[in-house]
Amino acid sequence: MAKQQPNGNFNIIVTTLAGLEEVLAEELRALDMEYIKVGNRAVTCSGNLRQLYEANLWCRTAIRILKPIRNFKARNEKDLYEQVQKTDWSQYLDVDMTFAIDAVVSHSTFEHSLFVAQLTKDAIVDQFRKATGERPSVDRIRPDVRLNLHMHENMVTLSLDSSGDSLHRRGYRLQTNVAPLNEVLAAGIIALSGWDKKSTFIDPMCGSGTFLIEATLMAQNIAPGLYRRDPYGFEKWKDYDESLFEMVWKTAEAKEKREPQAEIIGYDIDEDYVEAAWSNIENAGLDKVIKVRQADFFQTQAPSAHGVVVMNPPYNERIQSDDIHQLYKNIGDTLKKNYQGYDAFVFTGNLEAAKSIGLRTSRRVPLYNGAIDCRLLKFELYQGSRK
Ligand SMILES: C[S@@+](CC[C@H](N)C(=O)[O-])C[C@H]1O[C@@H](n2cnc3c(N)ncnc32)[C@H](O)[C@@H]1O
Repeated sequence: MAKQQPNGNFNIIVTTLAGLEEVLAEELRALDMEYIKVGNRAVTCSGNLRQLYEANLWCRTAIRILKPIRNFKARNEKDLYEQVQKTDWSQYLDVDMTFAIDAVVSHSTFEHSLFVAQLTKDAIVDQFRKATGERPSVDRIRPDVRLNLHMHENMVTLSLDSSGDSLHRRGYRLQTNVAPLNEVLAAGIIALSGWDKKSTFIDPMCGSGTFLIEATLMAQNIAPGLYRRDPYGFEKWKDYDESLFEMVWKTAEAKEKREPQAEIIGYDIDEDYVEAAWSNIENAGLDKVIKVRQADFFQTQAPSAHGVVVMNPPYNERIQSDDIHQLYKNIGDTLKKNYQGYDAFVFTGNLEAAKSIGLRTSRRVPLYNGAIDCRLLKFELYQGSRK
């Protein structure tokens, strides 16, 4: 554990949202990672420095990409402090650098993750103070080096966070509304829909345009990490290989397909959301591919014989709707009448209202939107009557 393997590979832990683990594993497979193992809100694998950089640029469903440096058991405070001090922290940090520790604790005799983070921080700064008389300082918001401590049943994994800022903050979104979807969740839902990246893609309740933009990034083969303005965590590491990262970045840029690959269409009933979506689309440089206009979904017709509808209707948690049941009934009726030949995916946190759609689901995927228990519901809208 935490040892460099002879071929230059090392262990990597990639975190994600609940329900997207298999999608993420598939993305890591596409990057030729080895020993891929699906866990709970995380996937572990093995790869080299180039693959670590690539994963940060390319993974659409990763939140953070971690490089574990130590594994140990800590039964009490003394253990934790002593174990953290066993690492020579000057390998990763200098006194004039800032750092932060994200700690997650579960099923352990330690109850508070903040306390665990504090004690870990003390062990690190005490080591520097003893050796040099000085200490690196903590910066919770923009640290040079972000560490991750995961404690489960008193087993600790200490990792370096190669991503720095969470990867869901792609950097293309200027305009947000009251309920924009997390970009990682949006990308995961599109992957779960099985959309072929060629047929028509419609989000008829597009809000700030997250599904439209994520779908276009996939179709045009654009690495989502290319939008990032802030540095990645690994750029402050002592083994940072700038020319390798430049090569990975340039290779990613060259893979973009310039010609539109699919018809990608968004509607929203609210003019302000249409404008917000359009600003985000322009900011992402995707205005030649995506079409958005103000429309009531219930008045629209399918623009082609086949395609995919992916939507995230209001569900009364953060958005109010006058009659949520009527809204969901209208969704079902419109899909059935006007979108025959399409596969429709409705992502909702209102499972009661979803019953009013009145169509048979062919798949139900449990997911979360923040803390809200949600479902991705699939409806296959057959042309004519099904034999
Ligand atoms: C939960 S929000 C979608 C958020 C979006 N996924 C995002 O990431 O920003 C639901 C959207 O449905 C829109 N909406 C509600 N009723 C509609 C209708 N009949 N036709 C089109 N859009 C509608 C609302 O204006 C709102 O923007």
